[in-house]
Amino acid sequence: MNIRFLLFFYILPPASIETCLDAVCQNGNLIIRFPFRIRQSQQQPKSCGYPGFDVSCSKQGQTLLKLPYSGGEFSIQAIDYAAQELWINDPKHCLPKRILALNLTGSQFSGVYSQDFSFFNCSSQYLKYRYTPIACISDSNYTVFATSSRSAFRHLLAVCSFITTVKVPVQRPFHKHELSSDLSDDLRLSWESPPCGRCESRGGRCGFKTNSTADIACSYFPSKGISRAARYAISIGIGLPVMLGLVGILYHMGRRCSRAQTLVGPQPQLATVSGLDGPTIESYPKQVVGEADEGTCPICLGEYRPNETLKTIPACLHSFHCQCIDEWLPLNASCPLCRTSPPISLT
Ligand SMILES: *[C@@H]1O[C@H](CO)[C@@H](O)[C@H](O)[C@H]1NC(C)=O
Ligand SMILES: *[C@@H]1O[C@H](CO)[C@@H](O)[C@H](O)[C@H]1NC(C)=O
Ligand SMILES: *[C@@H]1O[C@H](CO)[C@@H](O)[C@H](O)[C@H]1NC(C)=O
Repeated sequence: MNIRFLLFFYILPPASIETCLDAVCQNGNLIIRFPFRIRQSQQQPKSCGYPGFDVSCSKQGQTLLKLPYSGGEFSIQAIDYAAQELWINDPKHCLPKRILALNLTGSQFSGVYSQDFSFFNCSSQYLKYRYTPIACISDSNYTVFATSSRSAFRHLLAVCSFITTVKVPVQRPFHKHELSSDLSDDLRLSWESPPCGRCESRGGRCGFKTNSTADIACSYFPSKGISRAARYAISIGIGLPVMLGLVGILYHMGRRCSRAQTLVGPQPQLATVSGLDGPTIESYPKQVVGEADEGTCPICLGEYRPNETLKTIPACLHSFHCQCIDEWLPLNASCPLCRTSPPISLT
């Protein structure tokens, strides 16, 4: 540990850190503080944020971050101040479209894991089960797929038209068995500078030193407003139980589906369980698996076998074993693969 480091982090708490307050967008729950600041916020003047970390609030309460060369604003889904990471998505719910134009040049952010994805434009007659379509950039005549698998790349190159290859800052490296992705999961980015992670992880508050726009300091005064514990409770406490609940349901259903048993035992506890009604579920299109069709049901992870019946969610074109998705939809009105594209009733 050198002197410079000590000066950096253990200097007396300067006034400017203490005068910067945490802020949230109205109706939102994402806590914004240094190095981020909400541009419109009275409580967060310019000195409360680091250059390149200004965010704004949408009318819906989303926290928006503009990346200089990437076609406008992204919505911030979560920030881990200690790890210096953030997760972003498209406020208009078509992330793949934004990925096609993504360019992190000139921003403070880079990918934690970056993986090349190749995009293909295929005629819709060629709708194989083994690839996951990207619904929001497909239409009735063309289906777009993105893959990072070499074998899928070769296959698609032979039958579809190649669009481009993009480096995607994915959340975690994709497994080899995942042939394609609809790329609807949040993008994971990190930042190097300012180095506030250590300060944050020790319960400090990071900010500019008084009357300085270059030097960072760490303050260990108790923070005003929302306590650190509450901040963690909000940021982690909401996301984690919901995730665990969903994983629980998927696991439970997967087991049930493969054994073809009826549902017994406790239902996973979810705060808001609201499913689709029977006629809507019944109205979704079904297909029978042919001899040449390949693929895996994302719910039970079982291979599709000839003469099995699949059901497709019209809003996002994801297909599942009929019996698997029929168990899911009464509990949850969203596609188990892409939470962002809730199935729309056909009736
Ligand atoms: C990203 O944007 C910068 C600035 O416009 C440009 O120089 C660079 O070539 C772009 N990179 C890609 C991969 O498009
Ligand atoms: C796919 O190809 C068709 C026909 O060339 C074109 O109209 C459509 O815009 C393409 N879609 C994408 C996402 O490139
Ligand atoms: C698909 O193709 C048909 C027949 O060529 C055409 O009438 C229709 O407008 C096309 N749909 C879209 C969404 O481009």
